[in-house]
Amino acid sequence: MCGIFGCVLKDGKAAPIIHAALKRLEYRGYDSVGEATIYNGKLYIKKDRGKIEEVDKIHNLDDLPGNIGVGHTRWATHGAPLQVNAHPHLDCSEQIAIVHNGIIENFAELKLELENRGHVFKSKTDTEVAAHLIEEILKTNPSLSLADAVLEAVKRLDGSYALAVISPKEPNKMICARHESPLVVGINEKAIYCASDIPAFLPLTNKAVIIDDGELVTLSLEGFEIRKIADSSLVVREPKFIDWTPEMAVKQGYPHFMLKEIHEQPATLRNTLRLQEQYLDLMATFLDRAREVYLVACGTSYHACLAASYMFSKLAFLATYPVIASEFVEQHGKSVNIDSAILAVSQSGETADTLAAVNCARQRAATILGLTNVIGSTLTRVSRVYIGQQSGPEIGVAATKTFTSQLSVLAQLALRLAKKRGKISQDEMDYLAEKMEKLPDTVETIIQTQEENVKQIAKKYKDAKTFFFLGRGISTATAYEGRLKLMEIAYVPAIAFPAGESKHGPISLIEQGFPVVFICPKDETHKTIVGNIMEMKARGALIIAVIEKDDEEIKSLADDWIEMPKGIPEVLSPIPYIIPLQLLAYYMAVERGHNPDMPRNLAKSVTVK
Ligand code: AGP
Repeated sequence: MCGIFGCVLKDGKAAPIIHAALKRLEYRGYDSVGEATIYNGKLYIKKDRGKIEEVDKIHNLDDLPGNIGVGHTRWATHGAPLQVNAHPHLDCSEQIAIVHNGIIENFAELKLELENRGHVFKSKTDTEVAAHLIEEILKTNPSLSLADAVLEAVKRLDGSYALAVISPKEPNKMICARHESPLVVGINEKAIYCASDIPAFLPLTNKAVIIDDGELVTLSLEGFEIRKIADSSLVVREPKFIDWTPEMAVKQGYPHFMLKEIHEQPATLRNTLRLQEQYLDLMATFLDRAREVYLVACGTSYHACLAASYMFSKLAFLATYPVIASEFVEQHGKSVNIDSAILAVSQSGETADTLAAVNCARQRAATILGLTNVIGSTLTRVSRVYIGQQSGPEIGVAATKTFTSQLSVLAQLALRLAKKRGKISQDEMDYLAEKMEKLPDTVETIIQTQEENVKQIAKKYKDAKTFFFLGRGISTATAYEGRLKLMEIAYVPAIAFPAGESKHGPISLIEQGFPVVFICPKDETHKTIVGNIMEMKARGALIIAVIEKDDEEIKSLADDWIEMPKGIPEVLSPIPYIIPLQLLAYYMAVERGHNPDMPRNLAKSVTVK
């Protein structure tokens, strides 16, 4: 997730306005920043890696002439955070400047086509392709307007984009286009603005026009014109009055970042389905070659590893060993060796315990593989191969969207490995690939249909002293994660373990009114978990069940239930089934008067051991 901003002013310099707006978008990404303006028929550009203030100190971002400009604050997905990869990106003739938020899936083939036509690329980003594509279209048809050239270019882009383009060829116009990534226009009597998000221009105007998917908008001092990309038809849309405070706007109207990020998961899951194939295949090759595979992480990332161990086993018949990073050296430090592969999973890529485990394995010549949300983090620098999960910055301390993204990447890896090892039929592969594609919509449906139900359950149990979270099979990982969420933000002591363990001790805790959360999709474990529910119920427990829709058998046993859509494959079930547990933890925290975004004693990234 990155932040884009652009403005056309009646008078005055655009650069300082852009700089201030990027500061307000910094929560969307902050590993690089850049601005480009037009003055006297020439493009001026300043950009570099680093946070906005760091780059400003070196380059003085306000010192760019001109009343029109674009800016960008980056969260790297393609190409490490380097000056050359920072936006804006230019074409060969340096007559087109573009900023972009999203992922252009077909950039590699477009880049090859354009290189074959003589275009010279400077960066490793997907975005730069768009600048050269517009240049090529204008070269082929010089009579086209900038807007029409951008329109033709975006028709060739697969993936997600919110982009803004300026050019000295039409120095008073800015062309923007949107598909999936957010784009809004702000307008007042002195200027017109475009941005990824309302906070960027809210202090300047509260009149906003939301641009929809598949629309292209031309901004100028005469106003704005919206057209449909598909057929160039005009769209009439009046500005809306935005009555948010700037603080609310950064959360897009949500009361907390955590709730915003829970709701972002359909979008982040769509992005996670746009991974670079070559890196997935390369990582699958290393996993296939290894004599043993350790999945190493902490906290929520460890729970993703736990779920992944079921995916790798059930799909690829590959045994993998999920290990809590702080225990890795003691548990495996002596046995890990050149034939071992370590897949380290870390949202921040900076968790000290995880990096210490990786360091130990590196010293013993093991192959290091990384899955992280932060390109350029330490984990990416020490990994032989890494995959960026493309979730965008996660502001809430509790991991939510990054967990489901990690699971999505790990599921895609398991599928590739299954195919590589010949353990899955083409039909099964197609079936699971289709279900993966549907996951974002499934998660959207769950949030829309179950959020209110979960809110009521949180109200009902807000004073409970403790909870059990139980599951069987891959749902054990979901149970562990649901428990961690409740503990870390609602401060409710909770215990999670495989449901089959109950009679080996923990069931002694059960007394009248003790709430037990069961995660029980209709998979191979369903029959046995019904037995576990009954043994808890018989001792007075209150049963809260996350079930498949219309599971009448468990409904007859449960005190409360949360219904999931039907047809979710067992190996993918933690992705949708964790959603109600994230919401339960969030609403329990709110009911108990805590701030879910800043839980006591916790930091977003634990960079100390
Ligand atoms: C999860 O909600 C916590 N914030 C914490 O457990 C976190 O998952 C853990 O510290 C690992 O962080 P990482 O993914 O950045 O390595």
